[in-house]
Amino acid sequence: MRTPYIAGNWKMHMNRADARALAMELRDKLSGVSPRVMVAPPFTSIETVATVLQGSNIMTGAQNMAPAASGAHTGEISPLMLKDAGASVVILGHSERRHSYGEHDQLINEKVHLALEEKLEVILCVGETLAEREADRVAKVVRTQLAGGLKGVTTEQLQNVTIAYEPVWAIGTGRTATPDDADAVHAEIRRVFTDLYDAAQAEKIVIQYGGSVKPDNVKGLMGRDNIDGALVGGASLKTDSFVPIVQFDT
Ligand code: PGA
Repeated sequence: MRTPYIAGNWKMHMNRADARALAMELRDKLSGVSPRVMVAPPFTSIETVATVLQGSNIMTGAQNMAPAASGAHTGEISPLMLKDAGASVVILGHSERRHSYGEHDQLINEKVHLALEEKLEVILCVGETLAEREADRVAKVVRTQLAGGLKGVTTEQLQNVTIAYEPVWAIGTGRTATPDDADAVHAEIRRVFTDLYDAAQAEKIVIQYGGSVKPDNVKGLMGRDNIDGALVGGASLKTDSFVPIVQFDT
């Protein structure tokens, strides 16, 4: 049985005061819910949010990290710093990192390894662009991103990995993949896991869907066999929308 897992990606929003206020509301309103819940504030608010959420059922995450533990990496943040600030999870390979900042599978793979070595949980994002979808290349793109991002990751390490399928054309656009479309790609991702690992790992791996998840479409998505959670951007910035998404099954 896979436990549902809902994560909020706050992207480049929220100063520390706003982040503290939102974290306090979420802590109170989501106390005792059954899905796993994580929120990923910007780096500058991680400590603030982690302090509020300490001892609660909500994990604090980061949206990215450097592929190095320390050293001369101007402008970067290391996994040790993330842990020191209170994060226990890191989102890696988000499409905004891939497409706006040129991150490629090899770099993402280095980050995945370092995060897992440092005992951070990883959410590894994969997903195709509109042009790739229209060219019928979804399966190939997702397979390449998974094989590249997970290269050398052991079965044991996989216990700390979640996959987020986020079609680029659905992120922040209000266009959601239909539950059928998303479920088909999630099923493909399980086939890739069977090939890269084995059937047991394919059955176990938690796969979130991301891309314009809202209170009114979450139920349809979560009702599908292969969809185990959501990585939520815009709708994670307000309790009015994030709380009902987390409580999709009530
Ligand atoms: P969105 O973002 O929910 O605003 O589409 C999702 C994401 O980028 O993780």
